[in-house]
Amino acid sequence: MPTTASAMAAFAADQPIGPHTIPRRDVGPTDVAIEIQFCGICHSDIHFLRGEWGPIPYPAVAGHEIIGRVTAVGSDVSKHKVGDTVGVGCLVDSCRTCPSCQEDLENYCTTGSTGTYMGEDKHLGGPTYGGYSSAIVVDEDFVLRVPANLDPAATAPLLCAGITTYSPLRHWGVGKDSVVGVVGLGGLGHMGVKLAVAMGAHVVVFTTSPSKVEDAKALGAHEVVLSTNEEAMNAQAARFDFILNTVAAPHSLDPLVAALKRDGTMVLVGVPAEPHPSPSVMPLIFGRRTIAGSLIGGIKETQEMLDFCGEHGITAQIEKIKPDGINEAHERMLKSDVKYRFVIEM
Ligand SMILES: NC(=O)c1ccc[n+]([C@@H]2O[C@H](COP(=O)([O-])OP(=O)(O)OC[C@H]3O[C@@H](n4cnc5c(N)ncnc54)[C@H](OP(=O)(O)O)[C@@H]3O)[C@@H](O)[C@H]2O)c1
Ligand SMILES: [Zn+2]
Ligand SMILES: [Zn+2]
Repeated sequence: MPTTASAMAAFAADQPIGPHTIPRRDVGPTDVAIEIQFCGICHSDIHFLRGEWGPIPYPAVAGHEIIGRVTAVGSDVSKHKVGDTVGVGCLVDSCRTCPSCQEDLENYCTTGSTGTYMGEDKHLGGPTYGGYSSAIVVDEDFVLRVPANLDPAATAPLLCAGITTYSPLRHWGVGKDSVVGVVGLGGLGHMGVKLAVAMGAHVVVFTTSPSKVEDAKALGAHEVVLSTNEEAMNAQAARFDFILNTVAAPHSLDPLVAALKRDGTMVLVGVPAEPHPSPSVMPLIFGRRTIAGSLIGGIKETQEMLDFCGEHGITAQIEKIKPDGINEAHERMLKSDVKYRFVIEM
């Protein structure tokens, strides 16, 4: 007999989000029941709820930057206990046996991991429902420990924006000798800046918003470039080891590829609803440059990222909202008007 939770759901792609009741499973032997306190708003929530990545079943509940308190644990649970503050990110399960899962890369599970939303509920059937809700039940292996020194609300965005930027920075070996560009100063971008700075890199922000120039510096960026200024972009040619591109809308990649050094890599983490214009081949082959992609991160690396943030005192810059403010927050994010993550206080 499943229990229920209150949630904020989309009922159609073009309808406002409103209250709804969703099922949550009973606590099984390896499960952790969590009362959700905070949930960050990721731009992926908007793409998903509006059907921009393909049709979805409605009502749909987004949210994968979850912080909450453990209210019950199953008989076999050893990693978490009642009262703990814990996190849940983009994944709630995976096959656990494929080569990627064996290498702690559940995010690349070849049979398909289970998304916190946008997944299929293995226990109750039907879609998984995300963190825009009062409670969730998750297998203990997919529940993260939260460093005690971090503010819980401002930690929520680390569960997606944090790991999605941390993972490629680590994979491509960013460190103190790296010159790193971060494109788009939104939820992901501002975490990318903080993390790359903490890793010791020289960090340059590319933004389309003049109003964010001073903020970027306050976040730790060493330089800021207005990407709409062609002259300023030309001056960036061949100077970056690594560029993290977080922009949520189609744009020409060519000026950014031209900004890479020989053998430099630009990683795309933004997933616009429409494709980017095709990149030109010339700037890629002259300079052996790479355009790559990266998807969130595995559970082990997510814990490593949270611990890193605990050690360095890193959290997100947030604007707290109540559940009835979700629609307005989504609209503001579409105008790049977010400084720098909305977090719903449940
Ligand atoms: N790969 C993954 O695993 C993964 C994980 C999470 C999210 N994502 C994707 O990453 C993208 C960014 O997510 P986010 O939560 O950081 O989004 P966000 O907070 O809305 O920030 C996106 C930023 O992109 C820039 N931008 C430029 N032109 C834009 C336009 N026309 N519309 C919207 N933004 C524009 C803006 O920065 P400036 O004002 O500085 O120009 C904006 O703040 C989304 O597509 C999301 O789905 C991917
Ligand atoms: Zn996300
Ligand atoms: Zn797998």
